[in-house]
Amino acid sequence: MAGNIKLIVCDEAADVAKEAAALFADVIKAKPDAVIGLATGSTPEATYAELARMHKEEDLSFAKVTSFNLDEYWGLDGDHDQSYRYFMNGQLFSHVDIRTWNTHVLNGKAVNPQLECQAFEQKILSVGGLDIWLLGIGGNGHIAFNEPGSSVDSRTRLVDLTPETIAANSDGRFFKEASEVPRCALSAGIGTIREARKIVLLATGSGKAPAIAAAVEGAFTPDCPSSLLQDHPDCTFIVDREAAADLKNAG
Ligand code: F6R
Repeated sequence: MAGNIKLIVCDEAADVAKEAAALFADVIKAKPDAVIGLATGSTPEATYAELARMHKEEDLSFAKVTSFNLDEYWGLDGDHDQSYRYFMNGQLFSHVDIRTWNTHVLNGKAVNPQLECQAFEQKILSVGGLDIWLLGIGGNGHIAFNEPGSSVDSRTRLVDLTPETIAANSDGRFFKEASEVPRCALSAGIGTIREARKIVLLATGSGKAPAIAAAVEGAFTPDCPSSLLQDHPDCTFIVDREAAADLKNAG
């Protein structure tokens, strides 16, 4: 296995969510004013449901937590039902006691994208960096919207989505048609993500198996952006059996 990535292989996708939520809960219990990074997409939905359950049934409090999301579609405002701000409100923020003013999702309608991205990076610095960042992974190995070719030290910026990513997000789960998917997004860079003190990447389903194998056991290369996590000192991949299927050493 290349690099330091710690791998947890679960039998079921539901167990992936439980493991991930438990890791987040540990960070928040140890540091109630933790700074957490969040992702959107199908994969973390069950993790957010589990965190909401822990808030309701086990008093897990987000009252002092600050959050940053990985990305936002360029051109969508937060009220659009496919915006990532809307997704986060519906999946997590409205179910826990996090303060809206402590949740940071890039503004897809910002007048000046460069200034929006700089302000996002500044805000992260001003709160002392992220304690933990949750990631999903694209079938092409992307993390956030850092598509293949993104550099290891890339920062938050306006990026183009690849045709593959546009297709993956217009399969009926989110947008119905490719023509509806924005062509660009604001995305935290790989350098931005790598500065988080802890990184947790989730993957479920066979569609992610080649990307997981490339990220964990392949070369450290911008061709597979998630492989650029290999030298992070505290990075855990939590995957189900299907997503682990192409690994040679799944443990
Ligand atoms: C979402 C994000 C993306 C997704 C990835 C996987 O904020 O940054 O990188 O994590 O595209 O998406 P799903 O989970 O829908 O397969």
